[in-house]
Amino acid sequence: MGDNQKGKSNGNSRTLTTRQGHPVTDNQNIRTIGSRGPATMENYHFIEKISHFDRERVPERVVHARGAGAHGVFQAYGMVGNDPVEKLTRAKLFGKGKETPVFVRFSTVGHGTHSPETLRDPRGFAVKFYTEDGNWDLVGNNLKIFFIRDAMKFPDLIHSQKPDPVTNIQSAERIFDFFSGSPEATHMVTFLYSPWGIPANYRQMQGSGVNTYKWVNADGEAVLVKYHWEPLQGIRNLTQKEAQEIQGKNFNHGTQDLYEAIDRGDFPEWELNVQIMSDDEHPELDFDPLDDTKIWPKEQFPWYPVGKMTLNRNPVDYFNEVELSAFGTGVLVDGLDFSDDKMLQGRTFSYSDTQRYRVGANYLQLPINAAKTHVATNQRGGQMAFDTDFAEGQNIHVNYEPSILGGLEEAPRPEKEYTPRYEANLVRQHIDRTNHFGQAGDTFRNFEDWERDELINNLGNDLAKCDPRIQEKMLSYFTQADEEYGRRVKESIARATEEKKKMMKHDKIAGTDGPLGNVTGEE
Ligand code: HEM
Repeated sequence: MGDNQKGKSNGNSRTLTTRQGHPVTDNQNIRTIGSRGPATMENYHFIEKISHFDRERVPERVVHARGAGAHGVFQAYGMVGNDPVEKLTRAKLFGKGKETPVFVRFSTVGHGTHSPETLRDPRGFAVKFYTEDGNWDLVGNNLKIFFIRDAMKFPDLIHSQKPDPVTNIQSAERIFDFFSGSPEATHMVTFLYSPWGIPANYRQMQGSGVNTYKWVNADGEAVLVKYHWEPLQGIRNLTQKEAQEIQGKNFNHGTQDLYEAIDRGDFPEWELNVQIMSDDEHPELDFDPLDDTKIWPKEQFPWYPVGKMTLNRNPVDYFNEVELSAFGTGVLVDGLDFSDDKMLQGRTFSYSDTQRYRVGANYLQLPINAAKTHVATNQRGGQMAFDTDFAEGQNIHVNYEPSILGGLEEAPRPEKEYTPRYEANLVRQHIDRTNHFGQAGDTFRNFEDWERDELINNLGNDLAKCDPRIQEKMLSYFTQADEEYGRRVKESIARATEEKKKMMKHDKIAGTDGPLGNVTGEE
């Protein structure tokens, strides 16, 4: 029984009541004049029941609407390679042996709350750490990079991926129209159209913070850091055909797999790894360390395991815990900091903004989002405010600061603060080292044969549905990544176009599948 369900019984502990605490003696019949009606309007229990039902939904997340969640624990190793972690960060949660409760929400991105979990789509991997210094959210995806590197482009990216505003059907042509105007997406497209675009389930996938963050130590010195989750269950991805077979029988397989594994005590585990770079521009690299379309190569920037997460408890109420959970990239604790990664900065505004709209101004009072440590603010009121976060011994008349009358006081500053210095013109410019295609080529060459075959086939099927001008541009990007990549996608488009023509002739249903994409599960 969850905490919020305790101590509310009326007589017999299983007696049904209204939210006013009135025992319900008849939950089958509304009050009517005689057994055949009409109904009366003073029927409080009925009106409360039906009007609450009418309000059971909140807006779904604008992205990542479909998700599954679980509770667990993070245990820190206390080391980064051979060094104690304190050399690089003063964040207490990474101290040796420290255990921190966590809540994780996995998700797909593009479609609605009950869309199939077999779709070609990145997967969200958001972790809330309830640390002694307040909450830390690590809001990541399964893939290590992203489509774009500037937050300005995010609404356009998502509009192109979401269903067509007229037909309400996802369209490969709209998707590749955007990608063909955004060459920086080529690396992510290479992952997305390979089997890495359909993880077999949530337990057997990696996670990554994607954006670059900073760690700050007790001397106020910073390094750049990237985070990666490695599943101890191993990694497994699906071919398009396997995904379709699963989808034909079960479109909730990811949620079900996670719930059932935890239910039978087979707790999934991930190791958290960090990659570290000194905090500067790194002119020696052919990419910018703040560019989230790039991987930091493992050979140059090793993965250091810093802790292990175990998911060991299912939610007792999906809505209260999973749907109302709210993660954000701005939610950091002392010792963790932002980098100047432009995507990260844009994201940091967007998350809490959408949550004030989606859940409400007091979303941080909800048990799933509230910090499990000392919380004392001067914030008061707002819709659904129910918990005034006084400090012990506080003068409750004082809801402002400063005051000499016993109000809340500022915490002491850390001895050494991290104070980076900036000197530049205010501009609208992209970063210098764009290098759109280099790593896309590396990724193509690093795939196993079956992964490359899938990639080529999946791209051919979707691009065959696109305007030739879009095909041409995409082919030029793939060719710049790797000559073989471009050539094989071209052949694949030709093959898919030919097959489509044959099928249309055969079925005499010309044009019926025009706007649909392989992203929607078509072979
Ligand atoms: C969810 C915005 C990029 C991972 C969301 C939500 C918004 C958003 C508005 C819905 C949040 C909610 O309703 O609670 C943005 C913007 C981005 C961006 C503006 C770029 C400028 C990314 C990237 C990643 C990512 C690069 C991967 C690292 C996630 C995840 C969720 C999410 C995992 C779901 C969190 C949950 O389970 O509640 N994003 N996003 N986003 N985003 Fe982003």
